[in-house]
Amino acid sequence: METESTEKLFDPVCGMDVSGLSDLKHVAHAGKTYALCGDGCEHRFKQTPDRFLGEPLIRLENVWKVFDMGDTKTEVLKGINLSIWEGDFTAIIGASGSGKSTLLNMIGLLDRPSSGKVFFRGKDVSNAEDHERAILRSTAFGFVFQQYNLIPWLSALENATLPLIFSTGDTDGVKMLARFEDMGMKERVTHRPTQLSGGEQQRTAILRALVNDPAVILGDEPTGNLDSKTGNKILEMLIGLNRGEKKTLIVVTHDADIAEKADEVITIRDGEMLRDHNIHRRTLTEHNV
Ligand SMILES: Nc1ncnc2c1ncn2[C@@H]1O[C@H](COP(=O)(O)OP(=O)(O)OP(=O)(O)O)[C@@H](O)[C@H]1O
Ligand SMILES: [Mg+2]
Repeated sequence: METESTEKLFDPVCGMDVSGLSDLKHVAHAGKTYALCGDGCEHRFKQTPDRFLGEPLIRLENVWKVFDMGDTKTEVLKGINLSIWEGDFTAIIGASGSGKSTLLNMIGLLDRPSSGKVFFRGKDVSNAEDHERAILRSTAFGFVFQQYNLIPWLSALENATLPLIFSTGDTDGVKMLARFEDMGMKERVTHRPTQLSGGEQQRTAILRALVNDPAVILGDEPTGNLDSKTGNKILEMLIGLNRGEKKTLIVVTHDADIAEKADEVITIRDGEMLRDHNIHRRTLTEHNV
């Protein structure tokens, strides 16, 4: 018989608050029963349960983002509970304006929640000092955006090594030259962004994102400005970093093909996370109405 309880119940895999939801999947492990939001999380939990009993790499706890525009308040994120596990490739999908970029900025410490907490390796970093967040952001995260955000008057090589100047003061151009060579851009290193194709600019931006050897790569529609063939190459490169170098990869995308390749798909609608991300199922319950 079920007893009334005010204690909240969280899906151990995706981190969603599943208190009071119907149609949960229940899985017993090591003497305890865990409630999973749907097939996707159930499958992942059953494969490697112990992995999901520790602390996730990144955890959002009841994160709200409200933009105050004077006479109106816009609620963009509405109490997101989310866990990202080290080494995962997570895709974030959803309609335009649903809050995907706002969520990614929260994950990458580019923005602070209006309320709620953001944990990185178990430590609450949502209220940390600006300088502490900046150090963490530049050492633990690499960002790749739809607009490549390269500095127009610097060469490809200078753009890619720029973060090193801030972190170590050393630009180590030799190592970076080899990386450009690996990417088939040996002849392009002295070119400025306007002298590079979109794909070359994005490859330069990826090298820049990787220069501090971050644990996490965040992409906000990284292939959005590229034709599908070039976009696929960039995507393969990012997935290669996830699979080969075990980088945690989080990509916001409109592209269903990208989402297909991810370990976990998070669907955002009107600032809320939908249940059962992995199989792209639309909302099942009262929770998201
Ligand atoms: N600084 C801001 N001030 C006020 N409203 C904002 C601000 N930033 C974002 N918003 C609003 O928040 C909502 C979500 O924005 P967000 O950029 O996260 O959407 P998105 O899902 O990334 O959309 P797209 O797919 O078009 O990039 C939008 O309605 C947007 O207008
Ligand atoms: Mg966006």
